[in-house]
Amino acid sequence: MERLQKVIANSGIASRRKAEELILAGKVRVNGEVVLELGTKVSDTAKIEVNGELISKEDKVYYILNKPRGVITSTKDEHDRKTVVDLIEEDKRIYPVGRLDYDTTGLIILTNDGELANRLMHPKNEIDKVYIAKIKGILNPKELMTLKNGVIIDGVKTSRSRVKTRKFDKQTDTSIVEIVIHEGKNHQVKKMFEAVNHEVLKLKRERVAFLDLTGLKSGEYRKLNPKEVATLYGLTANQNKKNK
Ligand code: URA
Repeated sequence: MERLQKVIANSGIASRRKAEELILAGKVRVNGEVVLELGTKVSDTAKIEVNGELISKEDKVYYILNKPRGVITSTKDEHDRKTVVDLIEEDKRIYPVGRLDYDTTGLIILTNDGELANRLMHPKNEIDKVYIAKIKGILNPKELMTLKNGVIIDGVKTSRSRVKTRKFDKQTDTSIVEIVIHEGKNHQVKKMFEAVNHEVLKLKRERVAFLDLTGLKSGEYRKLNPKEVATLYGLTANQNKKNK
């Protein structure tokens, strides 16, 4: 049994919020009866009509995109800027899993599978997100340790991360640092480096779990294959157990 608004949203005809509006407006029938109650549980076999049209379950699609700079991670933008969804030719209503800043490049997953999206974003599942940051200055051992152990950003301590300096350039006083985190707080990597007084000059996400950008130039994307999707489900299967 699933909540009615979730089933409607999963069918791809509306967002969860829009589905709630449709229910409250009396536009939704379940097995012929108008349902006005949000959160009503419906079975797999229920006949659901929205505005008199029967809804059907939508096939799930999964993509990875190598996000270029200057594109926003959203489904639409009030200022009409290009979004990651605009870059992918797909008729189904897909959305990005997590967020990369406007000026951050690299790997982002897009799907219409809300279940997998939630699992991937849940920090308890400890999905690796690997970022390469070009920063101002060179991290000293104490700063490295501080970053690894977690820093306070927006009043909350980040969980442990893996950090290593890949290279540094004394002349330009910059370094290339790899940082692996499991969370997705707003501007997390930039704020973590800020907390140890290093500005992030460039940021790229190189890998999420086992997925990397091999073969994808900036702006290019590909579908995940069924084995990759199954592996992502497998990696996040402990969510409920771990949450208890
Ligand atoms: N951390 C950031 O600061 N920005 C991103 O885009 C992703 C992670």
